[in-house]
Amino acid sequence: MRDEAIAAIAGAKDLAELKQVRLDHAGDRSPLALANREIGALPPQARKEAGARVGQARGAVNKALGERTLVLEAEHEERMLVEETVDVTLATQRRPRGARHPITTFSERLADVFLAMGWEVADGPWVEAEWLNFDALNMGPDHPARTMQDTFWLEPAEAALVLRTHTSPVQARTMLTQQPPIYVVCPGRVYRTDEVDATHSPVFHQIEGLVVDKGITMAHLKGTLDHMTTALFGSGITTRFRPSYFPFTEPSAEMDMVCFVCRGVDPDACRTCRGEGWIELGGCGVVNPRVLTACGIDPEVYSGIAFGFGIDRMLMFRHNVEDLRDVFEGDVRFASAFGTEI
Ligand code: PHE
Repeated sequence: MRDEAIAAIAGAKDLAELKQVRLDHAGDRSPLALANREIGALPPQARKEAGARVGQARGAVNKALGERTLVLEAEHEERMLVEETVDVTLATQRRPRGARHPITTFSERLADVFLAMGWEVADGPWVEAEWLNFDALNMGPDHPARTMQDTFWLEPAEAALVLRTHTSPVQARTMLTQQPPIYVVCPGRVYRTDEVDATHSPVFHQIEGLVVDKGITMAHLKGTLDHMTTALFGSGITTRFRPSYFPFTEPSAEMDMVCFVCRGVDPDACRTCRGEGWIELGGCGVVNPRVLTACGIDPEVYSGIAFGFGIDRMLMFRHNVEDLRDVFEGDVRFASAFGTEI
C-alpha cells in the first residue's frame, strides 16, 4: 500500500493530479485510512505491531506528499514566469507618427553654421509694423521699391500692420535693441501676395543675416557667405555677386552659387539648375548708412553687412524637390521622406 502510494505520488505530473493522488492514497477512504481503522479490531498482540507499521506507512506517504507538493509548486511558478513574460520589443499597433518638417530641420542646420562662428539667432513676429518692414529700411511711403514686394496689409489699415514681406525688419529690431558688435541670423516665415505655383507661394521662408561692427566691408560679406555655401554644399563651390538694388544696402548684390550638381559643366543636361549653371540664393549688401542712422547707430563709427536668402529654394535644390507646393501642403509623407538628416 505504501509503495503503491509513493509511486503514485512520484507519478503525479502537476498539482491537480497530486490532489487526486492525495485523496486516493491518504484520504479518509484510502486503503491506509481503512487499515488504520481496522487496527482496533485486531487482537491486542497484533495491534501494536500493525499500528506501528500503518503509522510509519502513513508518515512516509504524508512526507512524500509534502515533498512532491513543494516540487510541483516550484515547477508551476517557473512555468508561469515563462508563460507570462511580455516581450517589450515586439511591435504593437501604433497610431501613425508625425514627422518634423524639413524646413524646420534645414533652418536649424543653416543657423548652426552661424552659431558655430559665434553668431546669435534673433527672432521677430510675422505680423510686423509697417515702419519696421519698410520705413526703417529706407523705404519711405513713396519709395518706388515698396512695390518690389507685394504686401498683405492687415485691417484696420490705420494700425499700419503688415505680414512681414521679408526677414529684414529683424535687422531693425536687433539694431534698435542691441549695441554693436552685432552678429545675428534670423530664419523665419515671410509673406507676399504671390499666386501659388511650382515655384511661388504666398508664404515662404528666408534667413536674414546681419553684422554691425567696426570696419566691416563687402569682403566680410563674401567670405562669410562662401563659408556658408561650403558648410552646406561642400568645398569647391564657387559663388558670385551680381550687382543689384535694395534700398537698405549699398552696394547691393544678388548672390549665386555654382550648381553643386553639374558645377557649371554642361548645365543644359542638369536637372538641378536646369541649364543655368548657377543657383540664386538671394540678396545681400553693405548696410545703407541711412538704416544705421534710423536705428540709432552711428555710421561714422560702425558699418554693417546683411543678407536675406530663400530657405525653401535652398531646400528644393539640395533635395530635388520639384514643386514648392509639396513644401507647404503638409502631407506627412513628404516630411517623413527627409528623415532627420538634412
Ligand atoms: N530683404 C531682401 C529680400 O527680401 C533680401 C536682402 C536682405 C537684401 C538683406 C539685402 C540685404 O529680397
